[in-house]
Amino acid sequence: MNNITLTELISPNELQEIVRRLGSEINRDYQDKPLLVVCVLKGSFVFMADLVRRLTCPLEVDFVRLASYGSEITSSGNVAMTKDMETCVDGKELLIVEDIVETGHTTRFLLDLLQSRHPAGIRICTLLKKTVPQKVEIPVHYAGKVIEDHFVVGYGLDWDEKYRHLPGIFKINRK
Ligand code: IMP
Ligand code: MG
Repeated sequence: MNNITLTELISPNELQEIVRRLGSEINRDYQDKPLLVVCVLKGSFVFMADLVRRLTCPLEVDFVRLASYGSEITSSGNVAMTKDMETCVDGKELLIVEDIVETGHTTRFLLDLLQSRHPAGIRICTLLKKTVPQKVEIPVHYAGKVIEDHFVVGYGLDWDEKYRHLPGIFKINRK
């Protein structure tokens, strides 16, 4: 039986506050430098859409889709790219936009892949970061909020492809 209830963890207002702060940090660091902002699908699509509207530097956007195979909710480290970017990365400043960093496997995979394409630099921005010890070290330059080890949905994040459209972040309670 799937007896699921949701508890709000981050309200839509707080999310907008977080995005505003992250936008200011990124604007301060990049100023007029052109940026290539890379959205990691699917989970980052809502966050990315809000974040880029806070950025004032000249920018391009592109999208990758990563899938991790393993258990339904825990990234196993077997990450694959199922959709590549269309923009040439060579010599550009990249900003990877992630929904959530848990073990770090997904982001490490993308970081290594994009690094091999010779960008001028890569930084990582994640909306959420879990307090669990990262299994793989990755440099997170911009972090929205650190959360406890709950499974969360909404604002782009899913559980079995559901709940991505919710305007806040919710904790899933399974009975
Ligand atoms: P990592 O590779 O363990 O860092 O996991 C990152 C990916 O796992 C994220 O990009 C999400 O797609 C997924 N993920 C991890 N935790 C959650 C969660 O609480 N809710 C929804 N997806 C999650
Ligand atoms: Mg994701």
